[in-house]
Amino acid sequence: MGIDTSELDKVLVVDFGAQYAQLIARRVREAHVYSEIVPHTITAAQVAARRPAAVILSGGPKSVHQEGAPLPDPAILELGVPTLGICYGIQVIAQQLGGVVDRSGRGEYGRTTLSLASDPAGSPPSVLFDRVPPAFDVWMSHFDAVVEAPPGARVTASTPGAPVAAFEDQRRGIYAVQFHPEVAHTDGGQQMLESFLYEVAGCRPTWTTTSVIDASVEAVRAQVRKERIICGLSGGVDSAVAAALVHKAVGDQLTCVFVDTGLLRAGEAQQVEATFRGQFDIDLVHVKAAERFLGGLNDIADPERKRKIIGETFIRVFEEAAADLGDARFLVQGTLYPDIIESGTEDAARIKSHHNVGGLPEDMHFELVEPLRNLFKDEVRAVGEELGLPGEIVWRQPFPGPGLAVRIVGTVTAERVEILRAADAIVTEEIRRAGLYRQLWQSFAVLPVVRTVGVQGDERTYAHPVVIRAVTSDDAMTADWARLPYDLLERLSSRIVNEVPGVNRVALDITSKPPGTIEWE
Ligand code: XMP
Repeated sequence: MGIDTSELDKVLVVDFGAQYAQLIARRVREAHVYSEIVPHTITAAQVAARRPAAVILSGGPKSVHQEGAPLPDPAILELGVPTLGICYGIQVIAQQLGGVVDRSGRGEYGRTTLSLASDPAGSPPSVLFDRVPPAFDVWMSHFDAVVEAPPGARVTASTPGAPVAAFEDQRRGIYAVQFHPEVAHTDGGQQMLESFLYEVAGCRPTWTTTSVIDASVEAVRAQVRKERIICGLSGGVDSAVAAALVHKAVGDQLTCVFVDTGLLRAGEAQQVEATFRGQFDIDLVHVKAAERFLGGLNDIADPERKRKIIGETFIRVFEEAAADLGDARFLVQGTLYPDIIESGTEDAARIKSHHNVGGLPEDMHFELVEPLRNLFKDEVRAVGEELGLPGEIVWRQPFPGPGLAVRIVGTVTAERVEILRAADAIVTEEIRRAGLYRQLWQSFAVLPVVRTVGVQGDERTYAHPVVIRAVTSDDAMTADWARLPYDLLERLSSRIVNEVPGVNRVALDITSKPPGTIEWE
């Protein structure tokens, strides 16, 4: 159960594939209006039942002329709900309302200048463009183009490659643009979206961090009442924010369980102690289980077996801790909105069994409490900051559930974990010092279990190399290796070799995903 959103002004973003819908939904929320993503198969009756203040038809990778192209129920455009079509969305609207979509043009990709249709009185031709200049740069990515607006609609803007770059039919509440207002490259894109939301659809900006917290607190109280509730803490941002929210709602009915697998980053266990026991005064069970995890991993080199062993050990340890607590009926789960979106695209093939540690078996008989299930990651962070969680937790980069074990390429020993943790701490410290920590999706050290020859002082050494892995990414599905400055690389190399015993060489991973993955295992 998440927040009760029934009374909020709500925008439904119809998903035609790729990542466009998520970006639009996030931009709408940045304008403080609640938004939800719905699959393109939604019917007009289902749309009406959700009583949206507006509908946005997203972009998508297909052409309306392609066989099997995703098309919405045409009756959605007859509902009288203010509707904005973006990119593929403008083409869908044009086609369904009797305009013409053509693929004879040359298409447009990247930045281009949008010219607004002239108006004899000199005022902007559309309320959408009220707050932008008469010509401005927009981001285009289309092959097909609308060449004729539907009957009754008025063309409000054009570009060199798109004679109908925007049209509207005020009477029916239908607005459409070929360019992408949701991307940062479109000047004034956010203002344009806001004009649609506030002026056209009459939405009120009620979706704020404070209102999110208030609504979550209310929902958790209504669900949990006077019962006891358990929250597993991982050291990451999601479980931390979920715990802080639940604590605000039900105070000492909450007990947090932190399983120290011995495979965490430097300082994580201390940070969890200091924040939850120290700052928030939450009842915290700290299970120190490093030896048990290491014992289970003895001699295991296969990555998937490591994941399985760690996942199972985690479940056993957590079950035991929960059994000691006796009477708890509820369990907090840090599910986020992107985990539950019913998307317009097929799920990507699974490359690794991302056995998320903390994904507990259903036979534990807990009822789940999911206070973050309506939120995007950036909203979770904003909530965390407002609740007073330390920046180090709120802005922590993602970390795999099996922890350092899948960054030791080969068998895991206590000594190797020590080496990797020390090298990783230097990477994090230097990346932070260079001001790059938040820009990078992940930056960390990897320890391949091989040895290389080196020379230190007058001595020949035979020790491990450490690999630096730093990537940029939006969602971990694809990633690019980060171009780290040379002076930073030099500091990393010299500090790791000098400060971490057992390491005599530093290498840099310059592989993108695909063909590599972000982790080495
Ligand atoms: P890859 O290596 O597949 O990783 O490019 C994509 C993202 O997933 C994280 N990752 C994991 N997360 N359990 C997790 O909870 C896992 O077993 C696991 N393996 C990889 C990885 O850190 C990256 O953010």
